[in-house]
Parts: sequence; C-alpha cells; structure tokens
Amino acid sequence: MPTRTPRTTSPARTSTRVLVPEITPKKFFGRGLPGVDLEKLNGKLIVIEGADGSGRSTQISQLVEWLEGTGHATLQVGLKRSTLVSEQLEEAQQGNILSRTTLSLFYATDFADQLEHSILPALRAGVVVLADRYIYTLMARDLVRGMDEGWLRNLYGIALIPDAVFYLEVSPEQLVQRVFAKNQALDFWESGMDLGLSRDMFDSFLKYQAAMRDTFRRLQTVYNFPIISGERSPTSINEELRKRINQVLAGV
Ligand SMILES: Nc1ncnc2c1ncn2[C@@H]1O[C@H](COP(=O)(O)OP(=O)(O)OP(=O)(O)O)[C@@H](O)[C@H]1O
Ligand SMILES: [Mg+2]
Repeated sequence: MPTRTPRTTSPARTSTRVLVPEITPKKFFGRGLPGVDLEKLNGKLIVIEGADGSGRSTQISQLVEWLEGTGHATLQVGLKRSTLVSEQLEEAQQGNILSRTTLSLFYATDFADQLEHSILPALRAGVVVLADRYIYTLMARDLVRGMDEGWLRNLYGIALIPDAVFYLEVSPEQLVQRVFAKNQALDFWESGMDLGLSRDMFDSFLKYQAAMRDTFRRLQTVYNFPIISGERSPTSINEELRKRINQVLAGV
C-alpha cells in the first residue's frame, strides 16, 4: 500500500506541517478545459452529493475539522457559489424567467467558473477540495425535467472526474421533516414546483425528491459512486466517510 508523503509547507491549524495527498492520475469526463495540465493536479477532489437537507453541510464541516486537524489544507466549493454569476443566477431564479435550457446553462457557467478559478488552482496546490454537490446534482435536476442525457454529458465533459463521490441518501419523508425543522419552509425549486407535480408544495416536494432519488440511483450505476445511508447518526456517517477518504488520500 502506498504511504502518504508529508511535504513541508506552512503550519496548519493544529499540526506543524501540511500533508500532501498521494498523487493519482486525474481525468476529465470529456474534453475538459483547455490548457489544463492534469499531471500537476496534486490535491484531491471529494464530492458530497445529496438532496436538500440530506446532511451535506453537517458532514462537510466535520470533515474539514478532521482534515485540517490532521494537516491537510482544504477548500470548500458548492453550487451557486461562483463570484461570476451566483448573484445573477439567484436573481433570475427569483424572477422565474429562465427556460430549462437557460437555467441549465446558467448553472453550468457557475460550475465552470468555480472549476477554473477555485477547484483547479487548489488542486494544483495540493489542497483537498470538498465539493458540496457537483455535476451529478446538476444532471439529475435536468434529467428529472426531461432534458437530453447526451446533451448534458457533453456539457459536463468540461468537469474533472472527482477522486471520490459520496451520495447521502435520505428518504423524501425524512428530508421534508429535516428541511421544515431547519428552515420552517420548503424551497420552490427544491420542491420541484416548476414541474407542476402538485399544487401543494409539501406533496410536490415528496414527489420531486422521490424522482431525484430514482435518478441518482440510475446515475450511480453509470458513474459507480457509493450510496451512503444518510439516515444514521451524523457521527456514524462521518466515521464511514473518514475511512473512505483516508483510502483516497493514500491513493488506494
Ligand atoms: N444524520 C442526521 N440525522 C438527523 N438529522 C440530521 C443528520 N444530519 C443532519 N441533520 C439535520 O438535518 C438538517 C439539515 O442538515 P444539513 O444542513 O447538514 O443538510 P444539507 O444537506 O447541507 O442541507 P441544505 O441542502 O439545506 O444545504 C439540520 O437541521 C441538521 O442538523
Ligand atoms: Mg448545506
């Protein structure tokens, strides 16, 4: 089993040096972004996928603490967080003025900006990048809305294949309780209200999240990522994630 190679850079929060993960070859899904030297991407890209309220933030904050505590530099990215278009995307969604294609392309632009300006530079610097959702959510949302899978695969051919993807699966019934407890409301888009599944938001949320879960299960067979049961205690989920991430860091 390859061992991790500690290389000294600057002091981390609780350790005296920053660990650089074992290097493994990286690939794009398709043609990728032009001018990127994949061999220089020394960090790791770890994706946590899951529905609204599935516990992604809870897990990621514990992972960051653990990784930084053991000497790894980390960066968090997520959907709709680009400096380029996140505000405009939010505004356009409020106004409900986007067609399915333009909404999809808006999200793809947000993704491409973060890939180019945050994810790739961090990976070049040996950072462990934790992505709160990735192209799988973007594809699943569009597939549920009847968009063409080939078109989407082509669009996200720009994306880097992550070193690991973990999908936190939680039943729609559990999700609705968690989201209500957290926000006291359901979100228009996360309830799939644009799809006309039901005029009742609660009912629409259950139907939409069930369709998203089915789509994720199908994507899982294509992209072969583990489905992690998100209905256990946060600690037990985190233990499983740490075990799996340790293997990724060791280049296994
Ligand atoms: N394993 C768990 N079991 C029960 N409740 C949980 C679990 N993990 C998280 N929660 C609770 O569920 C709610 C949603 O969790 P969290 O914010 O981590 O989810 P999220 O996937 O990041 O949601 P969002 O889509 O809103 O960003 C929070 O109130 C959190 O305390
Ligand atoms: Mg969150």
